[in-house]
Amino acid sequence: MSTELHETARALVAEGKGILAADESGGTIKKRFDSIGIESTEEHRQQYRNMLFTTPGAEEYISGVILYDETIRQQADDGTPFPELLASRGIIPGIKVDAGAKPLAGAAGETVTEGLDGLRQRLEEYRSLGARFAKWRATYSISDSLPSEYCIWANAHALARYAALCQEAGIVPIVEPEVLQDGTHTIERSGIVTSRVLAALYTELFDQRIDLAGTLLKPNMVLSGYEASARAGVEEVADSTLHCFYKHVPAAVPGIVFLSGGQSDEDATAHLNAMNAQGPHPWQLSFSYGRALQAPALKAWDGKRENVEAGQRAYYHRAKMNGAARAGTYAPAMEQEAVPV
Ligand code: 13P
Repeated sequence: MSTELHETARALVAEGKGILAADESGGTIKKRFDSIGIESTEEHRQQYRNMLFTTPGAEEYISGVILYDETIRQQADDGTPFPELLASRGIIPGIKVDAGAKPLAGAAGETVTEGLDGLRQRLEEYRSLGARFAKWRATYSISDSLPSEYCIWANAHALARYAALCQEAGIVPIVEPEVLQDGTHTIERSGIVTSRVLAALYTELFDQRIDLAGTLLKPNMVLSGYEASARAGVEEVADSTLHCFYKHVPAAVPGIVFLSGGQSDEDATAHLNAMNAQGPHPWQLSFSYGRALQAPALKAWDGKRENVEAGQRAYYHRAKMNGAARAGTYAPAMEQEAVPV
């Protein structure tokens, strides 16, 4: 198998760096813009992504950016296509290729992620547009009886089919099995479900002949439910997450890039930091955050041209904090370094 895949995967988890997930679908970016009272027009979406992607110095902490179909075709204010702009700064362009989580037939309350039909052709086009890695997200809800084995295996199968097509196209697949942490579950229950999901995923990836050294895993951390009455603290989250991933993720995988889910920005940074402080580990432990990298920038920008610099400072600061968490050297006091916006 091509070593280009291995090199790309390793570059995405280079020391001190991680990934910006800026691949919000039309529905999701509308929700984000609603929160600041901005209409989700193509122009506003371009302006927002332009602000993030032209942030001075972001490449010190950001190895890759996941784009959405609309964004990979858009241009920066100076006319440079976004993927070209990112690549010129040493940031690898990626692309979300799944078509979203849809109701799983015969399984009330559960979803399966769609998007395999025509994927071979789409990957070819995305590669020609500059994408060198991709993302496919499956989601699983936790309740006393869910997720079902049916849901776990249907999603694992689809993730592996996607991964095989990516590798054929010379694109590194990020496989994202996200066990949603909404609800009142305990951290133990989160660990059990995450374990089950990972065991099925790595079985399917093996059966479908995936070259693990040319992949990255993008999982949830093992957390108490967001609505649980007693929630585990930073050290317990780090211990439970590491315990789970050591059991299931082969050392051939170059990196685990966590999603932030519904964690606060600072929690997401503190959890990653605590895990890296216990290193070294068999894989790089990094981030592929959406909300936890963008939330302060979105708020500081507030849809106004005169706030672009403030938005960029907020994004740069979060990237820097997470860069420190890659080495286990983050401390909450460093948050004060942020230039006031
Ligand atoms: P969050 O970090 O906001 O969970 O987004 C990451 C992502 O790409 C989810 O698919």
